[in-house]
Amino acid sequence: MKTAWTPTSWRAKPIQQVPEYPDAEKLNEAEARLRAYPPLVFAGEARSLKKALGEVAKGKAFLLQGGDCAESFAEFRADNIRDTFRVLLQMAVVLTFGAAMPVVKVGRIAGQFAKPRSAPMESQGGVELPSYRGDIVNAIEFNEEGRAPDPQRLIQAYTQAASTVNLLRAFATGGYADLHNVHRWTLGFIADSPAGERYAEMANRISEALAFMEACGITPESSPQLKTTAFYTSHEALLLGYEQALTRIDSTSGDWYDTAAHMLWIGDRTRQPDGAHVEFCRGIKNPLGLKCGPSITNDDLIRLIDILNPENEPGRLTLIARFGADQVAEHLPRLIRAVEREGRAVIWSCDPMHGNTIKSPSGYKTRPFDRILKEVQTFFAVHKAEGTHAGGVHFEMTGQDVTECTGGAMAITDEDLKSRYHTHCDPRLNASQALELAFLIAEGIKAERNASERFAAAQ
Ligand code: TRP
Ligand code: MN
Repeated sequence: MKTAWTPTSWRAKPIQQVPEYPDAEKLNEAEARLRAYPPLVFAGEARSLKKALGEVAKGKAFLLQGGDCAESFAEFRADNIRDTFRVLLQMAVVLTFGAAMPVVKVGRIAGQFAKPRSAPMESQGGVELPSYRGDIVNAIEFNEEGRAPDPQRLIQAYTQAASTVNLLRAFATGGYADLHNVHRWTLGFIADSPAGERYAEMANRISEALAFMEACGITPESSPQLKTTAFYTSHEALLLGYEQALTRIDSTSGDWYDTAAHMLWIGDRTRQPDGAHVEFCRGIKNPLGLKCGPSITNDDLIRLIDILNPENEPGRLTLIARFGADQVAEHLPRLIRAVEREGRAVIWSCDPMHGNTIKSPSGYKTRPFDRILKEVQTFFAVHKAEGTHAGGVHFEMTGQDVTECTGGAMAITDEDLKSRYHTHCDPRLNASQALELAFLIAEGIKAERNASERFAAAQ
């Protein structure tokens, strides 16, 4: 029996990953302030995203989702936002051109602050303090003051998200994302990398095609879709007090939307079917993601789909598979078959980051590029074998020239990790690694499309 949903009904459920705020009154005050603040996104935009994702669910488009593991207050700069955005644009253009398929662009950005932790406390040199849970909760610095959860951080996170989303809207619609700028999105430091060179060649072909189309009368004036793009925001719905405070009734439809982001996802650690995170997410109308790791059973998955997408609406639910390069072939087929058997419309997306984290010999948390690549390739191969659509990818990446994941064409070694290891949480792909992957994925989508066209022609 399902009980009535309200924005607060999650509070009566068992919950994982909650910070212990020293002062409950201050937390209530901060949440009350947030409830009065303007929405960060509009319900109508979340509906457009759901519609675009509906096309992905039907096999007619591809989802590109990426950004920081965790945004931070310290790294909050216009350049950082711009550089992440431009790498996502480059990846999108590679996928759109290479695979000849529309690409739905979603950033892990403008709200991706809260982090689930494996233990509530951390010990260093005999001292035990609360674990770092992301800048929206506490500080990464290991001292008593820093690690104490501080409600004021909710307000700062909101403010940062608001100005990030404002800049992203300007970039997406104000001229920066015009396809005529395709060459300008290249960051200086990747221009000479193999992926950068490949990108330059592709950009030349796009410029040529644009000039040809312009001669035929198809100009940015006649076809505004050449000069703007739709860019959406997303983050993990982990800190439910923040999400609740930004959840509002949409006056057009009378439905509840979480206006903190267009899309929200549920983490692999907080997906208990009768837990608070699932309860909160089932009642908001935004598109949802659900992270699926090796421990999810077929029955769990179907039960979660029943709860999260009872009307079997295409575009409502994206299953984000994060198994690890060695386990994806074991788990993905059984889950795909369960979903197909039950006739559920979902998007399958591949997160090749979180199942491939290792400790390098020099002691850094890293992800080898070849493992990431292998998980993506296996993901495509499994979908090909099952006859289902490899619908999208979910990356942790940055536009900065960091050295956090080993490998790639620039061959970052374990020794190199220390030179520019800047992440606040998990290791991210740098711009040239991200672009390199986009080329490889474009080939995978093209192969899937050619196979399905051959199949259709033979019917
Ligand atoms: N509007 C189209 C789209 O979003 C084409 C487009 C314009 C585009 N600028 C872009 C595609 C930048 C990728 C990247 O798909
Ligand atoms: Mn992460």
